[in-house]
Amino acid sequence: MEALRTRRAVREFTPDPVDESTIEELIGAAILAPSAVNLQPWGFGVVRGSERLHALSAEAKRYVRAHLPASSPLAGHAADPAFEIFHGAAALVVICAVNGESQSSEDCCLAGENFMLAAHARGLGTCWIGLSRAWLNEPAIKAELGIPAEWRPVAPIVLGHRRALPSPTLREKAKIVWNR
Ligand SMILES: Cc1cc2nc3c(=O)[nH]c(=O)nc-3n(C[C@H](O)[C@H](O)[C@H](O)COP(=O)(O)O)c2cc1C
Repeated sequence: MEALRTRRAVREFTPDPVDESTIEELIGAAILAPSAVNLQPWGFGVVRGSERLHALSAEAKRYVRAHLPASSPLAGHAADPAFEIFHGAAALVVICAVNGESQSSEDCCLAGENFMLAAHARGLGTCWIGLSRAWLNEPAIKAELGIPAEWRPVAPIVLGHRRALPSPTLREKAKIVWNR
């Protein structure tokens, strides 16, 4: 409950790297998630290095600017020259559905939440970057990142050493329909 209550979307990172063994450990936590028929339909594309992510951020931003409708609430962000889609993080882990099973997206999302909670428990910060998903699904970008063509990026999550833990975001009262 402590981890659930205190995890936050982190958008300010130090440039310190996150080592491969830590990322492997977090992926180990991710794959403890349940999956439909226990198919475990996930694969993980990992990009490390804040300089590399800075360059990819610019690429992703160009794509987002070209594809977002002007009416989108995110259009302002995409047009801001200072906006970094990957928030200056040291690593990006792209959780991908590796087959076309009907519930593989749900399975990847559950793995993503495990990943974020495990990172938080280790004092690291994460943020799910939904804004990058369409760009990551472009065949040329998958090829550039070494993600197999048949994988489908579902949950792009940045990871790094956070500068600070943001204060809690509010939750609305749960909408519950009881049938007593
Ligand atoms: C599916 C999904 C997509 C998201 N996409 C983005 C994104 O593109 N960029 C970003 O900075 N945060 C993104 N977030 C983070 C949310 O904005 C954040 O989780 C939400 O504001 C609640 O804050 P909290 O996680 O600190 O409780 C995304 C979160 C989810 C679950």
